[in-house]
Amino acid sequence: MKILGINGSPRGSQSQTLRLVEAVLKGVKVSGAEAELADLCKLRIEYCNACGTCYKTGRCIHEDDFQELYDKILASDGLVLGSPVYFGSVTAQMKTLIDRMSDSIHCQLLHGKYGCAVSTAGSQGHEEVTEYINRILVAMGADAVGSAGANMNEPLDVAEMEAFQLGRTLAEAIETRRSYPEQEGVHEMMRARFGKLVEMNKEEWTHEFAYWVTMGWLEE
Ligand SMILES: Cc1cc2nc3c(=O)[nH]c(=O)nc-3n(C[C@H](O)[C@H](O)[C@H](O)COP(=O)(O)O)c2cc1C
Repeated sequence: MKILGINGSPRGSQSQTLRLVEAVLKGVKVSGAEAELADLCKLRIEYCNACGTCYKTGRCIHEDDFQELYDKILASDGLVLGSPVYFGSVTAQMKTLIDRMSDSIHCQLLHGKYGCAVSTAGSQGHEEVTEYINRILVAMGADAVGSAGANMNEPLDVAEMEAFQLGRTLAEAIETRRSYPEQEGVHEMMRARFGKLVEMNKEEWTHEFAYWVTMGWLEE
């Protein structure tokens, strides 16, 4: 079982959000999983320029650190995404990563994986950020198992304990292939919506169409 944690704070080892990502990874490790941590802000990841090349070829035109991270994301069984609250949302670095994964929505590339979100805020907004991250994970096909977060005017220890438990929940969900019936409806809706879109564009989005056929979700 492979779990990848990604921290979207630019504060490196000083990051409070990092403490929560690490606590989740500790939780998955006691369950026997292999855990890896990526510091997103140390990577060079360019903006998506909406050229649509990934829809056609499955590869991005930018030559930067994205593909190596994306390969790790796609090879993982579980994901932990962490971001501090920046003006009520995720950091620009986390949003840039999400945008670059645009074909993950079209092809539901996180299908079969599980994920969770952590966030810290100066005063408020960590729930909104973890809800946003989990919504994106589900939109890309994953099941979201929960979240943990804190405001910096509260002690971080409680959130760290919650994050540790979240890691155990993540590992258990993967091991038992736990189903989340309330998220199943979203997966069905996304597959219906993007199935139509990929079918409509199949002459141009050859890579995505071939992927859908391989998955048995569309017929040739
Ligand atoms: C550019 C910027 C924007 C921020 N926006 C918010 C905000 O909207 N709400 C909030 O409560 N805290 C905000 N903060 C504070 C951070 O969310 C908070 O310090 C967080 O714990 C930092 O996490 P980190 O240590 O992992 O980087 C902001 C900080 C920065 C640098």
